[in-house]
Amino acid sequence: MSTSPYLTLNVVDLTHETDDCVTIHLERPDRQPIASQPGQFLTLIVPCGSGSRPERRSYSLSSTPHEAPRLSVTVKRVPGGLVSNYLLDNVQVGQQMEVMAPMGNFTVQPNPGTARSLVLIGAGSGVTPLMAILKTVLQTEPQSHVLLVYGNRSEDSVIFKSQLEALEQQYAGRFQVEHVYSQPKNPGGAHQFKGRLNRTMLLRILEQRHQFPAEQAEYYMCGPEGMMAEARAALELLGVPANRIRRESFVASADSAETAANQPDGHGTVTSDDNDAITARTVTIQYEGTDYEVEVQPNQTILEAALDLDIDLPYSCQAGLCTACRGKCLSGKVHLDEREGLSDSELKQGYVLVCVGHPLTSDVVIEIG
Ligand SMILES: Cc1cc2nc3c(=O)[nH]c(=O)nc-3n(C[C@H](O)[C@H](O)[C@H](O)COP(=O)(O)OP(=O)(O)OC[C@H]3O[C@@H](n4cnc5c(N)ncnc54)[C@H](O)[C@@H]3O)c2cc1C
Ligand code: FES
Repeated sequence: MSTSPYLTLNVVDLTHETDDCVTIHLERPDRQPIASQPGQFLTLIVPCGSGSRPERRSYSLSSTPHEAPRLSVTVKRVPGGLVSNYLLDNVQVGQQMEVMAPMGNFTVQPNPGTARSLVLIGAGSGVTPLMAILKTVLQTEPQSHVLLVYGNRSEDSVIFKSQLEALEQQYAGRFQVEHVYSQPKNPGGAHQFKGRLNRTMLLRILEQRHQFPAEQAEYYMCGPEGMMAEARAALELLGVPANRIRRESFVASADSAETAANQPDGHGTVTSDDNDAITARTVTIQYEGTDYEVEVQPNQTILEAALDLDIDLPYSCQAGLCTACRGKCLSGKVHLDEREGLSDSELKQGYVLVCVGHPLTSDVVIEIG
């Protein structure tokens, strides 16, 4: 029996982090804790916009499981963005908010006995999941070291500024932040660099850090696509194995579709090859014990077609990033417009994201949940 992923939470506090960023602190009305892992995100379901359905957006938790029963998300204003502006301008302490329970696999599993070196690379709002990860590791792994390389325009745009300073003091010798400012107000300070957070900058910072031997450290990155591509290039130059690098994307990249997966026995085929012809087809969706037949038009995703039939499938980002809508293709062939959210091994096992999925054959069966 699956439990409902939906929760109604109270906004219990707000922290204004910068001029254009707020942390929203949420709790269940009965103050019972909600299971989460550091690095996961919450889906906010927000009644704004002109569509018939409320908007859903993913926001990484900046709080850790140790802060239960509180869950906190940190929202940065995106110019022209619907939900971020609505939240920054309207959210108030005392109001209720509908959310989907925490999910996502950009997580760290804390282990008190371990001694590891963690390098976190973030820019702008990308620091949010990194904050949950670093607080957890510092608190629960007394022998681990954490370095945060954090890019921003200037000192004024640093989210969690005072919290980071306090953590650096509390965990002196185990935690260090290196700030990178593209337009610093006060250039030349300690532990700050001027310029863009690109591969040259990262190499400059990491090569000085003997506590963090490149090949043995673990790397978590979250920020704009360009920054993450630069960071990956720097880590490749340092010889860091790919399995030590984890990344989270907030925005779909224009060119992330690659031909994806093949077809071992027992499941369907998932592809993101642009040559596939997409036509109207019926898909069978198995969800919570019911089989639904859904006719998907060429200009629709499988998720959109299901929602039009009022089938209450789980979803969040609708951009192929967050995996809230993940299902398994049991037969047939599915095209994905975006594959960022799925690992190579998930694709090989036939997992699909229905928010960016289109059926390519008439025998597609997808099991959700
Ligand atoms: C797994 C996940 C975790 C996320 N965590 C956070 C978080 O912790 N804090 C946070 O502020 N946001 C986070 N986001 C982004 C968030 O979900 C929204 O996309 C963002 O708030 C913009 O929504 P909007 O409705 O304001 O803009 P929309 O109206 O949806 O979009 C307006 C335009 O802005 C672009 N855009 C969307 N996000 C960004 C961005 N971050 N920077 C620049 N352009 C953007 C869109 O591609 C679009 O072109 C996360 C996204 C994902 C998938
Ligand atoms: S809803 Fe986020 S990946 Fe589909």
